[in-house]
Amino acid sequence: MNHECSRQAFLRRLEEHEDELKGLFEELYQNDRESYESFLLMLRHMWEERGERLQDLDAERESNPAWYKGHDLVGMQMYVKAFAGTLQGVREKLDYIEDCGVNYLHLMPLLESPEGRSDGGYAVSDFRKVQPELGTMADLAALAEDCHRRHIAVCLDFVMNHTSEDHDWARRAKAGERAYQQRYFFFDDWEIPIRFERTVPQVFPTTAPGNFTWNQEAQKVVMTTFYPYQWDLNYRNPAVFRDMTENMLFLCNQGVDIIRLDAVPYIWKELGTNCRNLPQVHSLVRIMRIACEIVCPGTLLLGEVVMEPSKVVPYFGTVDKPECHLLYNVTTMASTWHTVATKDVRLLRHQLGQVFALPKEYGFLNYLRCHDDVGWGLDYGFLRWFGMEEVPHKKFLNDYLTGMWLGSPARGELYNNDPRLGDARLCGTTASLCGVELARERNNGSLLDWALRLDEMLHAYMFTLSGIPVLYSGDEIARQNDYSYHDDPHKAVDSRWVHRGDMDWEAAEKRHDPETAEGRLFTALRLLENLRAEHRAFDGAADTWIVNTANDSVLGIGRYYQGEKLVALFNFGEREASIYTDELGDFTDLLNGERVDKRAVRLPSGGFRWMICDFNREGIT
Ligand code: GLC
Repeated sequence: MNHECSRQAFLRRLEEHEDELKGLFEELYQNDRESYESFLLMLRHMWEERGERLQDLDAERESNPAWYKGHDLVGMQMYVKAFAGTLQGVREKLDYIEDCGVNYLHLMPLLESPEGRSDGGYAVSDFRKVQPELGTMADLAALAEDCHRRHIAVCLDFVMNHTSEDHDWARRAKAGERAYQQRYFFFDDWEIPIRFERTVPQVFPTTAPGNFTWNQEAQKVVMTTFYPYQWDLNYRNPAVFRDMTENMLFLCNQGVDIIRLDAVPYIWKELGTNCRNLPQVHSLVRIMRIACEIVCPGTLLLGEVVMEPSKVVPYFGTVDKPECHLLYNVTTMASTWHTVATKDVRLLRHQLGQVFALPKEYGFLNYLRCHDDVGWGLDYGFLRWFGMEEVPHKKFLNDYLTGMWLGSPARGELYNNDPRLGDARLCGTTASLCGVELARERNNGSLLDWALRLDEMLHAYMFTLSGIPVLYSGDEIARQNDYSYHDDPHKAVDSRWVHRGDMDWEAAEKRHDPETAEGRLFTALRLLENLRAEHRAFDGAADTWIVNTANDSVLGIGRYYQGEKLVALFNFGEREASIYTDELGDFTDLLNGERVDKRAVRLPSGGFRWMICDFNREGIT
């Protein structure tokens, strides 16, 4: 597109959104005209900085706004260092990424962050600089360009709730510059912080208790919701919002396609509240969405909203005024591990029933686990009907998934264990939680066979859901927990490192050998990904429903789109199951092409079936 066309397109988008933008801005910042003008100027400047190639991609995506809603995207998240050492290393490994069938790459935080006080890169000291050991900003842009050439979209975190205490603003604040202290939450004494503490829960109750930290240098108290070295930004200050939005757009201009809004529910604080999900947060996210629509409309916003379902969905905004394009399917993820432990699908059925009832426009990111812990944010109101109370039930889940429960093959570690509240979260790789680690340790072939079957079934189930499935790097070759973090003083206190281990390239070599565990899982996942991409029943626009299996250990999911129907069954139980389904249609097993006897679909423990019926071809039977 030539420059003039592209400028016209920018002006059109600006005009389209300007009234709303102005209204939102004035409401948040009490008619602060000057700040609004400065925000607009920043937008214009960031658009001018946007490269031609990216503007072409914007135009392409604008003409196909559903580009991310189909059934052909498969994601993978990874730490650059753990995967390939450097950004250049990742560029060299793009063949492997393609070999995994991945076309959405989430690079975990890679911006400058002080060693030993980085929270895995989530304490950023410079939003314009890559961690020197990983490379440079130019390397990131070059990697993004390589990815685009291969039709791989790039996702990057935007850690917006806080900066590192080493960020230039924080340093100036520490040195006493008032203008910079006003970018954070500074208090002369503990009076107000103590009042906040009465209503604000804790994110890291054992690894970083409390929400405030005394700063010796400034002789003041500073708000630190996460670790003490992560200083909460004050978005009530329009300069903070403008500069942070500019930082986000800067990353988009490096070729980042998906911005993960880290910890977004926390970005607005108000005394007397829990400081989560406040209405102003939604105004800020809406403005950021508008900023992207104007400057870089090819970009997607992915909200990290790890909250109960009623708090998650509002982050999609409304049809007229959308906020995030994508959100994590977090309660479904936690309910899945509950199902692995209890072998009872009733909660998952209930949970999925709720997700299936949501508008199809909502895009979910599905995952079995990520770099964080699994928090047990389950629907306890529902579980109570079956006699499961929150505290003992969490204890059971943690016992089962850490292998403390008699007969459990899982291997995991607790996270932020708070015995006072009877609360703990859980860490572990998918393979270790499924029993692969224990099976290998005991050299137990039949256990290994079962554990890999379960691992494969969980992936098949994830691929069955509408949205973008995201693998955690290494899970495709059944990577186990990595306990070496216990010896690293910077990591030892944070058990999330157990499932963030380095990629094992020797193990990856075995991925095409189905005789090995790596090969068996890798080959299975590739097949599932291909089938998913080939069949329209997996499209995000499909109808979805819960299939009655008359068996509380077997989950049934139905999907229908344009004449194609999929019935998927997953046996979470310990015993083989035989399922009678009265779903209309003659079905063929997608994996082996054989006809299915609907009256007796057999599933081994940990087994699944994908059954398809093409009404266009078969006619209704
Ligand atoms: C998000 C990240 C987590 C990090 C936190 C603080 O929840 O996923 O890893 O600790 O934000 O930035």
